[in-house]
Amino acid sequence: MHLTRLALTNFRNYTHLELNLAPGLTLLQGNNACGKTNLLEAVFYLATARSPHAGAERELLRWGASEEPIPFARVEAQVERRNGTQTNLEIVLLQAGEEKGHQTESVEAHKTSGRMSKRIKVNGVPKRALDLLGQLNAVLFLPEDLDLVFGSPGDRRRYLDTTLAQIDPRYGRALSRYNQVLEQRNSLLREFHERPFKPAELEIWDQHLVTEGAYIIGRRAETVERYNQLTAEIHPRLTGGAEYLALVYQPSVGLAAGRAVEPALGPGDLPAGRASAVAPRFAQQLASMRSRELGAGLTLVGPHRDDLRFLVDRSPEMTHAMDAITYASRGQGRTIALSLKLAEVALMRAETEEEPVLLLDDVMSELDAPRRAALSQTVMDASQALITATDLEDFTPELLTRAKILRVCEGRVLSEDTGGPQIPVS
Ligand SMILES: Nc1ncnc2c1ncn2[C@@H]1O[C@H](COP(=O)(O)OP(=O)(O)OP(=O)(O)O)[C@@H](O)[C@H]1O
Ligand SMILES: [Mg+2]
Repeated sequence: MHLTRLALTNFRNYTHLELNLAPGLTLLQGNNACGKTNLLEAVFYLATARSPHAGAERELLRWGASEEPIPFARVEAQVERRNGTQTNLEIVLLQAGEEKGHQTESVEAHKTSGRMSKRIKVNGVPKRALDLLGQLNAVLFLPEDLDLVFGSPGDRRRYLDTTLAQIDPRYGRALSRYNQVLEQRNSLLREFHERPFKPAELEIWDQHLVTEGAYIIGRRAETVERYNQLTAEIHPRLTGGAEYLALVYQPSVGLAAGRAVEPALGPGDLPAGRASAVAPRFAQQLASMRSRELGAGLTLVGPHRDDLRFLVDRSPEMTHAMDAITYASRGQGRTIALSLKLAEVALMRAETEEEPVLLLDDVMSELDAPRRAALSQTVMDASQALITATDLEDFTPELLTRAKILRVCEGRVLSEDTGGPQIPVS
């Protein structure tokens, strides 16, 4: 699939942008702080309904726009699938209260309240965020991908969730319901000291937690196995045969109490995708944790406490494997992150039968020649790749000859600099 058009209004530093996009490679070149990352963020936002950068959606609204009578940010794109089907995607972020035409709050309150409401449309029809997922598949490469290896378990769970929600709508729904149930269950557990309740009250939440959680665990296990099959080829290729990588899924369900690190369920131990086999173990573990959970006022077991480990070794037998999270060098960490992303591209292609749109933000400059060559190859095979750079020297000559180059400058995108005056693309 590829984007044929991207339009932004009041998104980050873009007041207004209308951009026609071609399949193949587009290089977005520009100096620091001109809007390259913001443009890729907008595309990824349409793919996932979440920003990879912003802590709060309010940050996406252009600063000056909150002074306008009706402050809003809008991202819209036209997506073309392999079979020629066109889909129009739109997200509008509206400062809370605006949709009622100023009747609910004063203008001053709007400016300071910071609450945003999100309106999503697919082909002009209002939809929920969950229904947007899968309409546009995108894989984002960032220098911060290193956090997948050295960051927190939460970073790794978020990564798996973002990938899976794009390829499996049921996963997105299960995750959203799981998080709702988890929140309700946690608030009930917190209340226990003030208002002791009967176990039956908790059991209703437990059932939902187990149903949704078992699907999430099964799907994560299955996906990690797929990653392993893919990285078995990708990782040695990236390292010239010097290193092999194994991913180990560590579901919190099945772990003996207090042994948070050791995987009780190894990757081969969990029947992939078979939630029915996970559910009884999850339910049993919740039951055995009951008094500890009441004491802690918190749900102590479930996919919200899963993790992923990376083992690397010089031989494919993995007999002397080291735990990358603890021992890898930064370069090794970067290579693991790149292996994961390249595997994600292949996974999405296989699961959706569409080529995902690749978004590469400033990543070439971080890589050495062999890794840059491997990434360039994936980029050249993509149906569409949008790549940012401050410097075109980071790209291989082959990539440069194939690419359309756009200059990004102070929240505007200009056509290729041919030496004459630059022409806005519309
Ligand atoms: N909500 C916002 N409204 C207006 N401007 C914003 C908003 N959020 C961020 N910016 C600004 O947008 C500018 C461009 O940011 P962006 O991260 O896209 O730059 P970039 O071209 O990727 O730069 P670099 O090469 O340094 O990575 C920055 O100056 C940033 O401060
Ligand atoms: Mg940037």
